[in-house]
Amino acid sequence: MLDSTTQVAQGRSVGAGELDALIIGAGFSGLYQLLCLRDRLGLSAQVLEAGEGVGGTWYWNRYPGARCDSESHSYAYYFSEELLQDWTWSERYPAQPEILRYLNHVADRFDLRRDIRFGARVTAAHYDAAANRWHVRTESGDRYTAKFLITAVGCLSSANIPDIPGLDGFTGRWYHTGQWPHEGVDFTGKRVGMIGTGSTGIQAAPVIAASAAHLTVFQRTANYSIPARNAPLTEEFKRWAKENAAEIRRVMHSTPNGHPFAIADRSALDVSPEARQAIYEAAWEKGGLQFRATFRDLLLDKTANDTAAEFLRAKIREIVKDPATAAKLADIDHPFATKRPPIDTGYFETYNRDNVTLVDVRATPIECITPTGILTRDGKEYPLDIIVFATGFDAMTGPLLRMDIRGRDGLSLREAWQAGPRSYLGLQVAGFPNLFTITGPGSPSVLCNMPVAIEQHVEWITHCIAHMRAHGMERIEAQPEAVDRWVEHVNEAANATLLPQAKHSWYLGANVPGKPRVFMPYAGGMARYREICANVAARGYDGFTLSG
Ligand SMILES: Cc1cc2nc3c(=O)[nH]c(=O)nc-3n(C[C@H](O)[C@H](O)[C@H](O)COP(=O)(O)OP(=O)(O)OC[C@H]3O[C@@H](n4cnc5c(N)ncnc54)[C@H](O)[C@@H]3O)c2cc1C
Ligand SMILES: NC(=O)c1ccc[n+]([C@@H]2O[C@H](COP(=O)([O-])OP(=O)(O)OC[C@H]3O[C@@H](n4cnc5c(N)ncnc54)[C@H](OP(=O)(O)O)[C@@H]3O)[C@@H](O)[C@H]2O)c1
Repeated sequence: MLDSTTQVAQGRSVGAGELDALIIGAGFSGLYQLLCLRDRLGLSAQVLEAGEGVGGTWYWNRYPGARCDSESHSYAYYFSEELLQDWTWSERYPAQPEILRYLNHVADRFDLRRDIRFGARVTAAHYDAAANRWHVRTESGDRYTAKFLITAVGCLSSANIPDIPGLDGFTGRWYHTGQWPHEGVDFTGKRVGMIGTGSTGIQAAPVIAASAAHLTVFQRTANYSIPARNAPLTEEFKRWAKENAAEIRRVMHSTPNGHPFAIADRSALDVSPEARQAIYEAAWEKGGLQFRATFRDLLLDKTANDTAAEFLRAKIREIVKDPATAAKLADIDHPFATKRPPIDTGYFETYNRDNVTLVDVRATPIECITPTGILTRDGKEYPLDIIVFATGFDAMTGPLLRMDIRGRDGLSLREAWQAGPRSYLGLQVAGFPNLFTITGPGSPSVLCNMPVAIEQHVEWITHCIAHMRAHGMERIEAQPEAVDRWVEHVNEAANATLLPQAKHSWYLGANVPGKPRVFMPYAGGMARYREICANVAARGYDGFTLSG
C-alpha cells in the first residue's frame, strides 16, 4: 500500500496538451488517482469531470433522504493517517451534504483542484498505436493527449430514465434522483409520483411523504429493507474510530465485502429456529447492512436464505397496517440480498400515512405518462404535479459505453463488449493498451464497501505504472487468454452464489432494456480479489503484455 504523505513528490500542474495520464471523473476514484499519479509518481496528470464540482455520486445524488449505507467510519479513504485523524463524521451514516463536504475537504487538503477541469464531459477517447497515445475529446471540443487513460467514471453515474411514452408531454415537473437540482425540490402541497423501490426510492419515500400533499409509489419489484437505525455518533465512538483506524482497516481488508464487520462463521441451518429468530431480531434492532453478516451462508444456500427472507417479510406484515398494502410490499420474488439490499429510515412505516399510496405496477403496468399524471394498464390515472424517477442507473458499463472509446485498430469498446463486458481483473480490456478502468466490470466494486475497492484499484494501477517506468516499459495490455480465463472465473464466482437468481437485478444489466444479461461484478470477495491482484503484480504482471 502507498501510505505516507512523506512519499510526496512535486507534481506538475498542466493545462490541455500532452499529459502522462488523463483521468476521467472526480469522485472518490478520480481524486485519489490524481493524488497518487501526480504527487507520488510525479507524473503530469489531469482529471476531466462532467460536473461543476468534485464528489461524483455525492455531487449528483442530492435527492431527499440521500445518505450512505456504509457506516461513516468505513466510508472514507484510509490511505492517509493524517486525513483519518483530521476528519470527524457526525452520524452513523453520513448524509449526502456531509459526504460532499468530505470530498471537497480531500480535494482542498491535497490541492487537487488545480488539476481538475470541471464541466468537461468526455465524449471520445481514441488510441493511436503508432504514437502510443490516447486522444481524448470533450463535449465542448477540447482535446487532450495522454499516454495513460484511466476511467474513474463510477459504476452508478449514468441515470436510467425509462422510456415511458408521454413523458415529453407531461405538464408537471419531473426529476431523476441521480440528477437532482442543486437548489432542491419543494414538495409542499404537491401530488408526487415516485417510480422505483430500490435503495434510492426506499430512502426518498419517507422524506417526500413528510412534505408532499400526497405520495404515490409505483412499485415494480417489491424489496427487502432493514432499518438503518441512524443516529449521531457519540464522542466515545468518534474517539474509538480514530484510535482504532488500523484495526478497522485490517477488518475491512479481510472481509469479502470490505465492510468493517466480520461475517459470522455459522450456518443459518445449524442453529435452532428459536436461536435463529433471536439472532435475526438482534440484527434487526442493531440495524444496517450487518444483518447480512448474521450467517455465512445467506448468499450461498437457498434454504438458509429463506429463513432470513421469511423473517423480513414477517416484519413488513407486522409494520404495515393495511393488509393489502402489506401483502404487495411483502410479495418479494427474489432471495434476500441477491439485489443490493436497501436499509431505511421509516420506509415501511411510511405506508401507514394517510397521504401515501402504493401501486403495484407488476400487476398493472404503467401504460403511459399523460399531461397530468401516470396512467396504468387498468385504465386508472394518478394525477400528479411531480414525478420522481428513482429508477437507478445503466450500471457499470453505462458510463464507459456512453463514451466512444476506441482501442487498437479502431476497435470500439461497444463492439468489444457487444455481448457483455469482458475484462482482465476488471482493470483492463484486451485491445485497449494503457487504458485502466477503476472499479470496472469484473472487479468486486459494487459488491463491496466501495472506498475499499477504489483504494485497492488506484494503488494497484499506481504501482503498475511505477513498475513500467522503472523498467522502461511504455505499454501494457491485457492478453486475450487472460481475459477469457478471468471472465470464466467471474461467472464461476457468481454462479457459486445465489446472486444470479434475481433475474431483474442491475448486477445482471436486467434493468436496462436490451442490455446483455451478464453478471458484471466479481462475486469472489474483495479479500480474495486483493490477493489475486497482488499475485499478478508479483509475478511480473502475469496475463498482461508489457512492452517498451
Ligand atoms: C445514492 C447512492 C448511494 C451510495 N451509497 C453507497 C454506500 O453507502 N456505500 C458504498 O460503498 N457505495 C455507495 N454508493 C456507490 C458510490 O457510487 C461509490 O461509493 C463511490 O462514490 C463511487 O466513486 P467513483 O469515484 O468511483 O464514482 P462516482 O462517484 O460515480 O464518480 C464518477 C464521476 O465521473 C464523472 N463522469 C462520468 N462519465 C464522465 C465523462 N464521460 N466525462 C467526464 N466525467 C464523467 C461523473 O460526473 C462523476 O462525477 C452509492 C451510490 C449511490 C448512487
Ligand atoms: N445509501 C446507499 O447506499 C444507496 C442509496 C441509493 C443507491 N445506492 C446504490 O445505487 C444502486 C441503485 O439504486 P437505485 O435505487 O437508484 O436503483 P435500482 O436499485 O436499480 O432501483 C430502481 C427501481 O426502479 C424500478 N424501475 C426501473 N425502471 C422501471 C420502469 N420502467 N417501470 C417501473 N419501475 C422501474 C426498479 O424496478 P425493478 O426492480 O423491477 O427493476 C427498481 O425498483 C443501489 O443498488 C446501490 O448500490 C446506494
